[in-house]
Amino acid sequence: MSDKKKEYTNGDITVVWQADRCIHSKKCWTGLNAVFQPNERPWINVEGASSEEIMAQIDKCPSGALSYYKNDEQMSTEESTNVVIEVSKNGPLLVHGDFDMKDKDGNTTINRKVTAFCRCGQSKNKPYCDGSHKAAGFKDE
Ligand code: SF4
Ligand code: FES
Repeated sequence: MSDKKKEYTNGDITVVWQADRCIHSKKCWTGLNAVFQPNERPWINVEGASSEEIMAQIDKCPSGALSYYKNDEQMSTEESTNVVIEVSKNGPLLVHGDFDMKDKDGNTTINRKVTAFCRCGQSKNKPYCDGSHKAAGFKDE
């Protein structure tokens, strides 16, 4: 597990937070502030809402920085999956679905729900998008 990957559980689901994938859309804390509190440490309070509310909010995270799994769910992608790839305008390549990714060092990670891959070349966390495309003024045309 990377140093920047943290997990928080309420006993039912586990919220996975990967800071270096956040593209700062603010959707999580504007959408469910009882759970996502950027000024608190830890900033995720898994007791602040029901599992259903937390999962519904995390499904809106555009980058995959936030994801979750149900504690009784297998940590496997064997049954997978229909992966959909979306090119976001002036932004990252979004891969929707659960898939394994092998990195340049040969390590495999499981990516879930949605993962944003850098398309502008400016990310400091390649191959993932870290939001740098905005400051870089990346444009499709
Ligand atoms: S990218 Fe995800 S984790 Fe980052 S601010 Fe947006 S919703 Fe929250
Ligand atoms: S596309 Fe987001 S940092 Fe490159």
